[in-house]
Amino acid sequence: MTEPAYILGIESSCDETACGIVADGTDVLSNCVASQIELHRRFGGVVPELASRAHIEAINNIVASAMEQTAIAPEKISAVAIANEPGLIGSLLIGLMAAKTIAWIWDVPLVAVNHVYAHAYAAALDAGPIDYPAAALICSGGHTALYRCDSPMDMTLLGGTIDDAAGEAFDKVAKILQLGYPGGPVIDRVSRDGDPKLIDFPRSLLGGGSLDFSFSGLKTAVLYHVNGVPGPRPTRGGRKPGPSARRASMQSNAGRGIENFTPREVADVAAGFQAAVVDTLRIKLRRAAEKTGAKTLVIGGGVAANSALRKAVTELGDKLGCEVRMPEMAYCVDNAVMTAGLGYHYLQAGKTADLNLAACPTVRR
Ligand code: KG4
Ligand code: ZN
Repeated sequence: MTEPAYILGIESSCDETACGIVADGTDVLSNCVASQIELHRRFGGVVPELASRAHIEAINNIVASAMEQTAIAPEKISAVAIANEPGLIGSLLIGLMAAKTIAWIWDVPLVAVNHVYAHAYAAALDAGPIDYPAAALICSGGHTALYRCDSPMDMTLLGGTIDDAAGEAFDKVAKILQLGYPGGPVIDRVSRDGDPKLIDFPRSLLGGGSLDFSFSGLKTAVLYHVNGVPGPRPTRGGRKPGPSARRASMQSNAGRGIENFTPREVADVAAGFQAAVVDTLRIKLRRAAEKTGAKTLVIGGGVAANSALRKAVTELGDKLGCEVRMPEMAYCVDNAVMTAGLGYHYLQAGKTADLNLAACPTVRR
């Protein structure tokens, strides 16, 4: 029997420092993540400079922990996979430097992995190969995008956000509702006590067949609903709020300031907002699946942990006759096992990088 290929993955693209070891692309042996949530909580979002410094402090220990949790000796590691794009440049550079150093010292190949593609691969971890072609919806704090996937490495971008990412909208709306940070998990929880149909927040579909996303209008509609439409009242020639933002702001109890909302009213706003995000994501994923003739629907990224989205995508899969692949909860948010898992496929295909590999902060189209 041949020995499995063990890949050590490193991830530091945003605010998680992570290292994990995966055998043959799907078998997770260790998954270590140092989260910086506490560090950024009081700012209500990730502060890039603080994130890079925290990565420097965490990276050595996290790699050591990932190795210790397996009985695998360094000589058995086949390659080091690094998420070198996209992300915060200062953060990416810390993981990249660590990955290059380990690859050089252990004399193993370095493999470059796109972080967003890795989110689309996360559903294969501890589960097995995905049946392609697939339509993948990746929604996280930094990205909201739809892809046609023909293999783990073959990704065609179909659409992306033109303003806020879905997770960013969750985080900002949680701030408006004074629910804390990060917003996604708490809105998910609070929404269970609310009525998702009570407030008619806008679903921005951007016309006919668009596969792009926009969440900034929805965020403004929530803000107006909570605080009222900013005065003075629009006059001739003045800039008026859009019709859907006005509609949401005019509903009962609106505009009184969040401190005057009862917990039930807060839950109704959270549930109405979440329903608007989930509807939008579901409608666009359906369009992407129909356009690509997908056999499989895949979701990934932090927002893929959302209970309402998971339910909506499960139902959509039933309706379209597609298999649905969703990552386990631990593999939705940023981690390095998705990097290691996808890295295995690059290694198999002979697509390795050299030690001049650069970090790239933006999503390449
Ligand atoms: O993938 P991730 O860890 O980081 C990025 O690559 O951005 O995603 C983090 C995002 C945050 O915006 C967080 O609020 C959101 O994922 N998130 C959720 C849930 N859990 C995390 N959003 C909605 N519902 C959740 N249950
Ligand atoms: Zn991510």
